[in-house]
Amino acid sequence: MIEKKVPLREIYVWELPVRIFHWVNATCIFFLIISGLLIAYPPAILQADGAQQLGYWFGYLRFTHYTLGVILIVNFLVRIYWMFAGNKFARWNNYVPLTQRQWRGIFDTVKVDIFLLSPKPIYDIGHNSLAATTYGGLFIMLVVQAITGLCLWSPTAEVIGAETFQSLAFSLGGLMVVKQIHYYLMWCFILFMIVHIYLVFYHDYIERSGIASSIIGGWKFIEEPVAKEYEEELAKQEIIKKQKEIIKELKKEPQKEEKATQSN
Ligand code: HEM
Repeated sequence: MIEKKVPLREIYVWELPVRIFHWVNATCIFFLIISGLLIAYPPAILQADGAQQLGYWFGYLRFTHYTLGVILIVNFLVRIYWMFAGNKFARWNNYVPLTQRQWRGIFDTVKVDIFLLSPKPIYDIGHNSLAATTYGGLFIMLVVQAITGLCLWSPTAEVIGAETFQSLAFSLGGLMVVKQIHYYLMWCFILFMIVHIYLVFYHDYIERSGIASSIIGGWKFIEEPVAKEYEEELAKQEIIKKQKEIIKELKKEPQKEEKATQSN
């Protein structure tokens, strides 16, 4: 754990679309799990005498599950757009370990989080590489869960495209196979939630960077040297951007002159 007196700087990390995505996603997943479990294991009262008094209860439950699924998909589509439009910490390349730096980050974080081999945390401004890679995995899980969910809905859904998902279910081995995938993935989501919430608060404790509250307000408290390194990188990127704009303008000039001489 670090000394509380190390100078820290506030940095705006999570933009509003990322925070909205996070909480809509977390809420949907939470209630999808509850409603999914109730669909998989209907309470005994449904089969008891007088169950008909419960009316259309199970229908409403399935409707809730489908509606939450649709919200989850739309929310994820917006997040995919933001992976290309958002800031450095929201971009797609955080979630795919392609660089040596990311792999070193994963290795070092495993040493801290799992094997407890190092008492010193790894300081990242955005997601640490291990967390980001697991979010990449979660995004893939979301896609598979959404597709299998749409396949399960397709026989009763009266919407455009339902036939496509019916034939997809058929080519995947039938509705029973699809149901199994959908069911076992639900347990992977439950596991993710438990580990994720534990790790967020563990990192909040060892890093003292306000990581837990950052997903509400967007700001993190970063150690001065790490913050400086980040600002230098930002300044470099700004220079490169300006240079590119100047080159673009210079390239346009001769074309403009050519057009002017042609019109004369
Ligand atoms: C159903 C429960 C949850 C799910 C499925 C979930 C999922 C996720 C995902 C996918 C991300 C990456 C966001 C992105 O980059 O767009 C994320 C980040 C984050 N989540 Fe959650 N989350 C859940 C609950 C929570 C809770 C209860 C907290 C408590 C404060 C929390 C705190 C955070 C923080 C601080 C980050 C960003 C820091 C990082 O780990 O890199 N999450 N979460």
